[in-house]
Amino acid sequence: MTETVVPAQDAPAFPSDRTCPYQLPAQYIRLRDEAGSLRKVTLYDGRTAWVVTKYETARTLLADSRLSSDRNHPDFPATSARLLNFRDRRLTFIGLDPPEHGPKRRMLISEFTAKRIRGMRAGIEQIVHGFIDDMLAAGPPADLVGQFARPVPSMVICRLLGVPYSDHEIFQDASRRLQSTTAAESTAAREVLATYLDGLITTLQTTPSPGLLSSLVASELAHGEIDREELVSIAVLLLVGGHETTASMTSLSVITLLEHPDQHAVLRADPGLLPGAVEELLRYLAIADIAGARVAKADIEIDGQLIKARDGVIVSNFIANRDGAVFAEPDTFDVRRSARHHIAFGYGVHQCLGQNLARLELEIILEALFDRIPTLRLAVPVDQLILRPGNTIQGVNELLVTW
Ligand code: HEM
Repeated sequence: MTETVVPAQDAPAFPSDRTCPYQLPAQYIRLRDEAGSLRKVTLYDGRTAWVVTKYETARTLLADSRLSSDRNHPDFPATSARLLNFRDRRLTFIGLDPPEHGPKRRMLISEFTAKRIRGMRAGIEQIVHGFIDDMLAAGPPADLVGQFARPVPSMVICRLLGVPYSDHEIFQDASRRLQSTTAAESTAAREVLATYLDGLITTLQTTPSPGLLSSLVASELAHGEIDREELVSIAVLLLVGGHETTASMTSLSVITLLEHPDQHAVLRADPGLLPGAVEELLRYLAIADIAGARVAKADIEIDGQLIKARDGVIVSNFIANRDGAVFAEPDTFDVRRSARHHIAFGYGVHQCLGQNLARLELEIILEALFDRIPTLRLAVPVDQLILRPGNTIQGVNELLVTW
């Protein structure tokens, strides 16, 4: 844990830091293996909240309209001080409940359909191979995060949004600092992103360009369907959501495959297994494992427990994805498993908007990386990697590799 609190009686501290990039921390194993599917835990600020530890209850609750995503609610469960920044801010759709949520999400959905995303394949392949070329030209060792895992999805989301990649230093750095656990650093990083995107929107108002942001400026903003502040919030959400997550999945997927040579060999022998292996990696790694935080708007009785109105609820998709009743031998990484029903992208109305894009990027990335660099290996033992704290998107900020 980054912050120190004295946990309430019988309510262990939550979340826990990972000690292995892909295995549940000991505390999560205890929570997962206990009877029942809900457990009171103590958050960094000493408040308590419910953690959902079983898959079926997780899906039921994520689909329950009595739970709210309103981060401005004073009882919304914060897993770090950084998240309190949301309290006073105008929220966009990730923090809105139905009926306000749907129309905002629908403004974007056509850009993220499976068909639309499939059309991006050639462009993504070109980006992926370009960064592999650069890495090979520079020679080993390389920092896979800085030289590959972060720039690839960053350039992809820039093209989709119509954000000039030449400004990448501004927003890659700010996106990373947004995940910082100190509130001040995170707020400052968000300001950098918002100011940058606000400036870009001004430019797009006079000079339309290709990309989603320009279309939103010309349609929704010009016709008053959203205001400028909300458009900036949407742009921040997509820019950050679009690259930190996929970057983390890339590095942790590489680690997981290299640490499971038998599974890696199975996959290399049959590339047709790749889409399923990506689902298994998503299930197994659950990098956005505490994204399913909610606050109860009314009393909810479930699985013999009473969630009271104003209680905080956190669906841990890392723990729920390791529910043995749904995934046999859940702690085993198995590329042949059929894992598509995992909840690493959440569930219900807020289920990840970018999931088709993330899947396609990961397929292209993993295939190209191991085809082009078949001898790729970690340059640092896995137990010496510095993992991000448990209260942020899971991953590593640096990953030295060689070949
Ligand atoms: C592997 C990568 C990714 C993971 C694991 C992931 C995970 C998640 C999760 C768990 C949620 C649900 C949050 C909730 O229940 O409140 C979510 C929502 C969201 N994600 Fe992702 N995400 C990924 C990639 C992306 C990408 C590439 C984008 C692209 C722009 C994106 C954009 C969003 C947006 C906009 C939402 C909010 C949806 C809504 O509230 O309706 N994500 N994501």
